[in-house]
Amino acid sequence: MKITVSRKAHFNAAHRLHRPDWSSEKNDSVFGKCNNPNFHGHNYDLTVSVTGEIDPETGYVIDVKILKDFIKTEIEDAFDHKNLNVDVLEFKNLNPTAENIVVVIYNKLKAVLNSNLELQVTLFETPRNFVSYAGI
Ligand code: NI
Repeated sequence: MKITVSRKAHFNAAHRLHRPDWSSEKNDSVFGKCNNPNFHGHNYDLTVSVTGEIDPETGYVIDVKILKDFIKTEIEDAFDHKNLNVDVLEFKNLNPTAENIVVVIYNKLKAVLNSNLELQVTLFETPRNFVSYAGI
């Protein structure tokens, strides 16, 4: 029997979608407004879901307080009120699309979670646009 425990989180961050190896015409045509040289912001929402067996001793799959603290230290402290392109090492050479951001978030959380827990992360870049990654 496997149960999924989820926690929502939030961060604000700026980004720019741009490839320095492309012409400005090509960057404009592929990335549109997201190629704005002065960056732009998003209110990112996050759902982190952890799946596993219930620990018979505690009755928990994961203590939500521990999950909350992992999200705070690994994601919110690292991304909130940051310019992803400039301030966050992982995006130094990686375009901070929603797809790439959700993979970075997944990898950071996976590294600190107990390895017998499965993880899925959903990242909302806008209320209508969102991406999910479960490590496959
Ligand atoms: Ni954007």
